[in-house]
Amino acid sequence: MAVVTKAVKGTQDIMPDEVYKNQFIEQIMLDIAGKFGFREIRTPVFEHTELFQRGVGETTDVVQKEMYTFDDKGGRSITLRPEGTAGAARAFLEHGLFNEALPQKLCYILNCYRYEKPQAGRWREFQQFGVEMLGTASPAADAEIISLAKEIFAFLGVEGLQLELNSIGCPECRKNYHNALREYFEARKDKLCPTCLGRLEKNPMRILDCKSPICHEVAKDAPAILDYICDDCSAHFESVKKYLDKMNIEYVINPRIVRGLDYYTRTVFEFVSTEIGAQGTVCGGGRYDGLLEELGGPHTPSLGFAMGTGRLLMVMQAQGIEIPAPPTCDIYVAPMGENASFEAAAIVADLRASGVSAQTDVVGRSLKAQMKYADKIGAKYTMVLGDDELNSKTAKLKNMATGETTEAGLDGFADSFMEFIIKEETAALNASLGGELDGVDLSAILNQQF
Ligand code: HAM
Repeated sequence: MAVVTKAVKGTQDIMPDEVYKNQFIEQIMLDIAGKFGFREIRTPVFEHTELFQRGVGETTDVVQKEMYTFDDKGGRSITLRPEGTAGAARAFLEHGLFNEALPQKLCYILNCYRYEKPQAGRWREFQQFGVEMLGTASPAADAEIISLAKEIFAFLGVEGLQLELNSIGCPECRKNYHNALREYFEARKDKLCPTCLGRLEKNPMRILDCKSPICHEVAKDAPAILDYICDDCSAHFESVKKYLDKMNIEYVINPRIVRGLDYYTRTVFEFVSTEIGAQGTVCGGGRYDGLLEELGGPHTPSLGFAMGTGRLLMVMQAQGIEIPAPPTCDIYVAPMGENASFEAAAIVADLRASGVSAQTDVVGRSLKAQMKYADKIGAKYTMVLGDDELNSKTAKLKNMATGETTEAGLDGFADSFMEFIIKEETAALNASLGGELDGVDLSAILNQQF
């Protein structure tokens, strides 16, 4: 088959057989963030390029090498968002949220675009769940967002992600650090890649997270920021650690974490997996106390994190965590002939209105082909409708798993099917629990499912 083209390199189709997994974790993320007071924000997929140049930083890999930037038909430079923080910060300023009760707690699920070298866990289009807390300088907030990420992992049953923590100080304490870095890299200049040579003057910290393996090697023994942070930043960091200790959140200090985006100040952190290969950072975040001012707004200390849903699903798969597949079809009604087809259409409409997932033939297939189809889509029950059934107003309901059949009246069928299926599910649940539910009335609970 000569299909015109394939999906673009670094992008992936999430097929219907898999999509429920994304929906499942997305819902959990939004629900848990909701418990912490985060409300969802949806910002545009593209922004003025300047937003990322100013926000993410001119000397970052993201801005220098990875952005999807183009001129639109009006000649404006537009960029597909490489991350969610800059857009959320822009929207916060544009809509005057700084006048509302602070901190503002925003969360999002969005697709991001980075022209990186695709490999396992690294795509050019990928999805992030993120949170941003805008308008608080307190170390309690740092611990709170870290605990939010932890709670999501715990709820999903994900284990073994290591929390790595660092402080990269404020612009003040970074001045001394930059000097120390310049001195260190100046002496090893001949080994740096051309991009890093450019960074040496402007922003030597960026050399620390250059993706070139040679620069990476050179940076191994570079001075560590923690030896240079000022008293205020140090006190903040100590306090964050104390909160985490109190909350029984384990962490390791990793003085090498600098994060790949320029807006960070003070606390930075990553949750890292060793089970999914080189791209093991599932979640990354930190403080960005200067970003809102950089974008032209008032001083608004803020912080947040984002986790890649693709990488999280990879970890869940590596750990054998099953995500329950939603039922695709409770009942398939198989009509034989035109009259029955009209009747079947009315019956499935009633069933769907009652909350049951019901399907019928929309192709004009033979009965045999319809039953094959019902089997393929995983229908739990089937019901054949022909002239005899229409005349007698009764039909046979077949349990596709056991092959058992039950007589069902067609008048008021949607209601009686609901009752029937609730009884069946109750019995199945009780059997799976070894009869523990004998005598317990579960119908009220099961009713809510439909
Ligand atoms: P980031 O570390 O660039 O931070 O990305 C966050 C997460 O997105 C990563 O830990 C990873 O799971 C996922 N990710 C990044 N790039 C890719 C890729 N090419 N393919 C697959 N997944 C990827 C940020 O984006 C910040 N905006 C996070 C933040 C929010 N900081 C404060 N607030």
